[in-house]
Amino acid sequence: MPFLDTSTAALVLGRADRLAACTEEPGRLTRRFATPALAQAGDLVCEWMRAAGMDARRDAIGNVIGRREPARGGSAGTVMLGSHLDTVVDAGRYDGMLGVLVALACVERLGDDLPFAVEVYAFADEEGVRYGTAYLGSSVVAGAFDPAALQRRDADGVTMADAIEAVGGEPGALAAARRDAADLLGYVEVHIEQGPMLEAEDLPVGVVTGIAGQTRAEVAFTGVAGHAGTVPMALRRDALVAAAGWIVAVEAQAGTTEGLVATVGELRVEPGASNVIPARAALSLDVRHLDDTAREAALAALRDRAEAIAAARGVAADWAEVQATPAVACSPALAGELEAAVEAAGVRIARLPSGAGHDAAVMSRLCDVAMLFVRCAGGISHNPAEAVTAGDVAVAIDVTSRLLDRLAHKHGR
Ligand code: GLV
Ligand code: MN
Ligand code: MN
Repeated sequence: MPFLDTSTAALVLGRADRLAACTEEPGRLTRRFATPALAQAGDLVCEWMRAAGMDARRDAIGNVIGRREPARGGSAGTVMLGSHLDTVVDAGRYDGMLGVLVALACVERLGDDLPFAVEVYAFADEEGVRYGTAYLGSSVVAGAFDPAALQRRDADGVTMADAIEAVGGEPGALAAARRDAADLLGYVEVHIEQGPMLEAEDLPVGVVTGIAGQTRAEVAFTGVAGHAGTVPMALRRDALVAAAGWIVAVEAQAGTTEGLVATVGELRVEPGASNVIPARAALSLDVRHLDDTAREAALAALRDRAEAIAAARGVAADWAEVQATPAVACSPALAGELEAAVEAAGVRIARLPSGAGHDAAVMSRLCDVAMLFVRCAGGISHNPAEAVTAGDVAVAIDVTSRLLDRLAHKHGR
């Protein structure tokens, strides 16, 4: 049977509520990268890290890092736990935050005899909402950050470099914030499932096998603006109608490719007036698959379709790939330890892939990674209705604590 410490789980849920109050928009949770709301959430997490006996600091991009040193003489390296503190627009309160808070709860329960250091990372950006490119926090840690991204601008025209500086970060020091792989024993992330499988299986937690690959692109159709009352339909070069045809093609592509998901989540129309034929329609595209070849084939097909639809309407189609993250497999050794911890907690082992992206995907470039999913109500996420139970959170704390214990034995405790 799992050891159900429901009072610690209740503390975790209470902390998630407190973090949810750190928002850019009154009345709903929106906490994008490098905003005062994110800094405020980070301050709370620093406070909780210190209360758990950790040193707390921020790195150059604003990741919050808590470190608990090993027992005297312990030099086995570092185990990293964590997840992210940024959110989507009108978010739920657990996507990302739960992984940070469960990690902290585990550190609070650690004994003094660990042969390795434990660090908790609260990453500054995983969702990529503000700059269209995701995983900014973990990319810096993994040494995979592309400095060209610093010149990207948000919707208000603020460059990423200026945004980082405005909250006390150091855009010029990002390369130096990477971690040394030689010191790391692994990265473990607890996260809500964001899907329905655990609920269907009546299980509190499951072990992640791998994370789908993901490509983000910006696609723009450019036609000619004109008078909505005078330009005959046959003579129009309407960018939005071209975009609409292509959005339907995106859905059809996913519908006919097993395992593919494809989403247009943003659309900007210019000039954007009811009596002007749209001259420009700019869209975001997000395409994911567990198989990189299938994802790349779908992208090539969608690019061809954009060009064909544009040509048929006398408009131009431009395509800019913003980010491509390959599919990753979790480390068999570390995921195996996690499975053993699940079993020791008396929970049937469920293995499941992740369609959502996670910091673990980027951290896998640096060290072994494993992920534990926690059941969430209705599989709902990226939605204020996200919900978890204290009982399931207690199981996640128990399993993660058992994992740390197993790793401590493995490394000579
Ligand atoms: C993050 O939640 C993502 O998968 O986009
Ligand atoms: Mn998310
Ligand atoms: Mn997340």
